Amino acid sequence: MRPRVCVPIVDSLRRRITDRARELRELPIQMVEWRVDYYAGYEAEVRSIVKELKEILEDKELIVTLRTEYEGGEKNGSRFDYFGMIEGVLQDGAADYVDVEIERDEKWLSKISHPYRESHTGIIGSFHDFDKTPEKDSILGILEKSKELGCRMGKIACMPHCEEDVDTVLMATKQMRENHPEYPIITMSMGALGSRSRLYGGLYGSEVSFGCEQEQSAPGQMDVHEMLRVFDKIYAGKKHIILIGFMGVGKTCISKELSSQTQKPEIDTDAWIEKNEGRSIREIFEEDGEEYFRRVETNLIDELGEQPPSIVSCGGGMALREINVRKLQALGEVVLLTAKPDTIYERVKDDTGRPLLQGNKNVAFIEKLMSERQPYYERAATKCVATDQRPVEDIAKEILEKCNQI
Ligand code: S3P
Repeated sequence: MRPRVCVPIVDSLRRRITDRARELRELPIQMVEWRVDYYAGYEAEVRSIVKELKEILEDKELIVTLRTEYEGGEKNGSRFDYFGMIEGVLQDGAADYVDVEIERDEKWLSKISHPYRESHTGIIGSFHDFDKTPEKDSILGILEKSKELGCRMGKIACMPHCEEDVDTVLMATKQMRENHPEYPIITMSMGALGSRSRLYGGLYGSEVSFGCEQEQSAPGQMDVHEMLRVFDKIYAGKKHIILIGFMGVGKTCISKELSSQTQKPEIDTDAWIEKNEGRSIREIFEEDGEEYFRRVETNLIDELGEQPPSIVSCGGGMALREINVRKLQALGEVVLLTAKPDTIYERVKDDTGRPLLQGNKNVAFIEKLMSERQPYYERAATKCVATDQRPVEDIAKEILEKCNQI
């Protein structure tokens, strides 16, 4: 799902805050967050500024946030009466959301969430960890707590120290969406390392992503225009037929047949990479290693979003990375082609272009690698078609039927 894009207002004076809202109204974004802790004026004006902002922003959603210092907010915010301001915003019902830090005072939160359940303004129950990324189960627990406390949406932002931490947040997001599909959540991994969570979080179920135009309001926020450009590619809708499966399973050949039956262009990811890199897959593996090749594969998927509906034939390892699978599924039907190890061996035995099979060309190796990969392929596939001893026209017909394209 394409996340809604939110840009924070971080100005200090009423006039600048409202001018900024007028500028943001013109952007193709869905939400604006007013960060009250950056505001340097009188507290008594806060509620009327919220109303004015909502009038300016019209159908764009407005989040009002008084971020405490502990949550990475401005010192300035500490002079405001946190609870009083939030209750006031809820009472007025002008904003679409007000952000509340769930750890601040759970009793108070459950007490105020109840009477304002029907208010136009919903509570976003947020949680921040600027030091680390909690375990997946803790993240789930925090998001579930926000739901129990009566919030309309849950939000978590944590700091990663390694790639696995970013994956933890994404996987917790996916799990939370599966467990509570009706409860909206916003999740992010902060800092430069976490920036992919701001782009790809939507593939796992995060509903909002925060971008900035000039000034960041949290570490790792990226330029909103760049974010929108990438979103156009990633969330381009299901339009391709995407073939995955083990080397030699017949992807290239079946893709040609599908292309001729449907008159859709054909894209071979290996051929695309070879053309872009100006060298063969074998040379890429020899010169830069498999990890480099896998990164190139992951980046290439975004480009697929810009292509017209096509038949895409993927390299045999494409479905092994979780992020690739998420991206591919967002762009089309992912069709797993299968064949027995003997059939594969017959098809690849005279080929020299597959580095993983160099020196390993025997049925036992193919069988072993295939069984290691099978769970990944099955998890990635939205459709599955067997290819052993079948004419290619037949296989193509079955794929088109399964993808409702006949
Ligand atoms: C690979 C399969 C190859 C190619 C690279 C790695 C793999 O594509 O991308 O050699 O890991 O299975 P084919 O499946 O088209 O041979």
